[in-house]
Amino acid sequence: MMLVVQFTHFLGMSLWIGGALVAIMLAIKAEGESVEVKASVARMLAQVHTLVIAAGALLTVATGVVWIMMLVQGGQSEASATPGVWIMEAAGLVAGVLVLLVAVPAAVKLGGLAVPMDDGKMLPAFDYYHKRLVRVSSVALALAVLSLFTGVVL
Ligand code: HEM
Repeated sequence: MMLVVQFTHFLGMSLWIGGALVAIMLAIKAEGESVEVKASVARMLAQVHTLVIAAGALLTVATGVVWIMMLVQGGQSEASATPGVWIMEAAGLVAGVLVLLVAVPAAVKLGGLAVPMDDGKMLPAFDYYHKRLVRVSSVALALAVLSLFTGVVL
């Protein structure tokens, strides 16, 4: 059981960090493209956020909580009460909340707004959600990587 939880924690973490890196890169790179390209990239970003990043964040946080419960049950919670594990849990939880409550809704909204207007531009709301997505995803990704670093190193 423990191995399944560990495996799923690491699988979720890989999906989350890998997906977020690619999503941020695509969102930034799409800025220089035509509106049609921007629109289809935005629709793909919405899917990457729901199917890869949100799924990864949910798996990571859920298995993190189960992992804690198993350590407590096994009487090993003292041994794992190191600063690194605390920071991993705190940063991971904050990043998870940011991803699930801010980044994913912004990406879905952006996908819905990805329709070029007659003048060949996007609605002003598109730029608003685009900026919000890049900003919040960058912060969440930095926290997730901090989480990984402290989980492994400290
Ligand atoms: C992006 C977020 C996260 C990343 C990258 C991450 C990464 C890691 C890594 C690399 C380990 C292995 C540490 C080791 O065996 O030395 C680990 C273990 C663990 N993680 Fe996470 N984690 C994240 C989020 C969370 C969250 C949100 C929780 C709980 C709410 C959590 C709970 C745990 C627990 C309990 C362990 C076992 C610690 C021990 O062996 O004593 N993690 N995590």
